[in-house]
Amino acid sequence: MRSIFASCALAALLLAVAQADHHMHHNHEGNMSCHVLSPLNADFAFALYKNVNRRTGPGKNIFMSPLGVSAALSMLSTGARGKTHSQLFSTLGYSEMDQARVNEAYGHLFQMLGQSQQEQKLDLGSSVAVRTGFSPLPTYLGDLQKYYNGEVFNVDFSNPSEAVAQINRHIAAKTQDKIKDMVKDLDPALAMVLINFVYFRGQWERPFDKNLTAKADFHVDGNTKVEVDMMKKMGRFDYYQDNDNHSTIVCLPYKGNTSMMIVLPDENKMEVVEGFINKDYLRNWHDKLYKNNLNLFMPKFAISVATPLDETLKEMGVTEAYSDLADFSGMSDEIKLKVSKVGHPPYRINNKNKSVNLTIFLFWLQVSHQAVLSVDETGTEAAAATTMEIMPMSLPVDVMLNRPFLVFITEHSTKSIIFAGKISNPTAA
Ligand SMILES: *[C@@H]1O[C@H](CO)[C@@H](O)[C@H](O)[C@H]1NC(C)=O
Ligand SMILES: *[C@@H]1O[C@H](CO)[C@@H](O)[C@H](O)[C@H]1NC(C)=O
Ligand SMILES: *[C@@H]1O[C@H](CO)[C@@H](O)[C@H](O)[C@H]1NC(C)=O
Ligand SMILES: *[C@@H]1O[C@H](CO)[C@@H](O)[C@H](O)[C@H]1NC(C)=O
Ligand SMILES: *[C@@H]1O[C@H](CO)[C@@H](O)[C@H](O)[C@H]1NC(C)=O
Ligand SMILES: *[C@@H]1O[C@H](CO)[C@@H](O)[C@H](O)[C@H]1NC(C)=O
Repeated sequence: MRSIFASCALAALLLAVAQADHHMHHNHEGNMSCHVLSPLNADFAFALYKNVNRRTGPGKNIFMSPLGVSAALSMLSTGARGKTHSQLFSTLGYSEMDQARVNEAYGHLFQMLGQSQQEQKLDLGSSVAVRTGFSPLPTYLGDLQKYYNGEVFNVDFSNPSEAVAQINRHIAAKTQDKIKDMVKDLDPALAMVLINFVYFRGQWERPFDKNLTAKADFHVDGNTKVEVDMMKKMGRFDYYQDNDNHSTIVCLPYKGNTSMMIVLPDENKMEVVEGFINKDYLRNWHDKLYKNNLNLFMPKFAISVATPLDETLKEMGVTEAYSDLADFSGMSDEIKLKVSKVGHPPYRINNKNKSVNLTIFLFWLQVSHQAVLSVDETGTEAAAATTMEIMPMSLPVDVMLNRPFLVFITEHSTKSIIFAGKISNPTAA
């Protein structure tokens, strides 16, 4: 019953966001604190979301890991110099910091997230596949190992099928076989592949009762509806109805230190909300959440979304890394490197032999039944506990997630937005 009054884990995140700006220059928690990253990463997360959203067709889902992208770009910037570096840093919002401080902060963040517990499985990790015969600077690989949990291994890219199999085996091992066969083909001229993955498996603190799940319509837009399995949960939730800003907010805690904040824009207001949303709105909503009796209706979904990021990153200011002017002399002083592709899932890369291309693959777990994108009743706890949460005195409010909504999965010990997304169509593959 403790769980009934458990407060929303987003609290810590948003409070940090509120305070961090002014702690930036005199951080009392020491340089190592990952919390210096949180307001900066939150701003980056919304900038990233808005750009990706502009490129996403109507009715399409969005789901990505802003934290994964920030971490991967920081791994890249560790080896970048000159303008290549400053562009990465200004896009990430890190211009006021130096690389050493950022690395320390990520080291701390990885360490905090590494204290994983049984109920909540959250892993952020990275690997570096290095071409056999190519030797990146030991300082670079050392930094990746030390601060980014990076695991370095050699791959014979000149034998592409074996290289593909090797990288896939490695990723499968690192993700408990949840991600298999991610890499389809690799260019023989690659020097190095940076791999970043976020693996999350959350269990609702209070599971849905499967017996209450029923078929219902979900309105993708004014003309399109699809049939979904609509879960139902009655009880007390962190809730806020923001009439000024056309949104209904519900916060659902997972076991452990994560929670899902749902933002349901009023009908036909999705675009408006997507236009203004930023960390200040999230903070305001968080501050105003209160416990209310709800009948919450939420569709079950398991979606998989590919997010190519090259055009997004270029538009956000990371251009030199892709060009022949790229300066990755912090990775190698022998070979000139540049970025060829960034995104998820991997792409076919056709590069010509001049300088050697560097590829980053970002891996997010998306398809598995128990993965973050799979939202279901998950849990074995007795439904009796659920029904007991109803307060007989007040009439519950219906919150029906039967039209597109936004989700933010946050981790509160590191104050990170781990995933951000828009569920436009729960039935889209
Ligand atoms: C913290 O940062 C300051 C300047 O930014 C530096 O002088 C000091 O050595 C750093 N301390 C640690 C423990 O890294
Ligand atoms: C790239 O070209 C050089 C000569 O310009 C050649 O020696 C080298 O083998 C080529 N590398 C690849 C991967 O094709
Ligand atoms: C939550 O985070 C704190 C650190 O802030 C940690 O000590 C604790 O073990 C975490 N709890 C769970 C259940 O993950
Ligand atoms: C609407 O959002 C703005 C900006 O976050 C906030 O100042 C205002 O209080 C919000 N309105 C309500 C009713 O919460
Ligand atoms: C690097 O990869 C990109 C993307 O595939 C390609 O367009 C470009 O020609 C490659 N550059 C070199 C020098 O191989
Ligand atoms: C769900 O329904 C079945 C069959 O009606 C029943 O046996 C079971 O106890 C119910 N479970 C819960 C958690 O209420």
